[in-house]
Amino acid sequence: MKKIVFATNNKHKLEEAQQILGNEFKILSLADINCHEELPETSDTLEGNAYQKAEYVWSHYFRDEKIPVFADDTGLEVEALGGEPGVLSARYAAIDGDPQQSHDSEANMKKLLRKLDGEDNRTARFRTVISLVIDASDTTTEIPLYMEKRWEFEGIVNGQIIRERRGTTGFGYDPIFQPDGYEQTFAELGADIKNQISHRARAMQKLAEFLKDKNL
Ligand code: IMP
Repeated sequence: MKKIVFATNNKHKLEEAQQILGNEFKILSLADINCHEELPETSDTLEGNAYQKAEYVWSHYFRDEKIPVFADDTGLEVEALGGEPGVLSARYAAIDGDPQQSHDSEANMKKLLRKLDGEDNRTARFRTVISLVIDASDTTTEIPLYMEKRWEFEGIVNGQIIRERRGTTGFGYDPIFQPDGYEQTFAELGADIKNQISHRARAMQKLAEFLKDKNL
């Protein structure tokens, strides 16, 4: 079985990834590789953050092993707000607000609904970027040449921000996001449907196709 590292400890993400990548791959979490530190995530783009995390794990843990590493980052991009909250989605309410409200979904949704008050354009999308880093080092030379190859995979789901929360499943902004083609929010659709059509699933499917195509 081929090994691949997913730079996360989020159980749901790990299960979803395993389902999509299939039995050919053994997915290792951060805990599995004994990485217990906070990964850097200081970029102002999803692409930057995903790469920062994958690159950090590759360079600190796998320089001498050819185990591919990938990491993801997701944002909710609202058209009328110029793409906000985007890369700030997790800590939206904490910006210019109470730092305690970082990762507070209720506070994040409240802020977003307030910002969209009176706004008719409710178009939004979830966007996930996965960054894959693979070792391409040449250690046959006298001074080892450490190199990496990197790829990016994007998954998007378009939809609308509704005016009031609906539904109880899922997490984050799920109760106020209604994907195009559905009458229900992500929080009403439930995990089975959401996991088939979600931004993250779409990015993950692209990663899976790539790994199979390249026989990695
Ligand atoms: P992460 O990069 O997966 O940690 O996502 C960053 C933030 O985006 C989360 O803290 C949530 O607020 C939001 N988010 C990501 N994915 C979803 C989703 O599937 N539903 C609702 N909110 C999400």
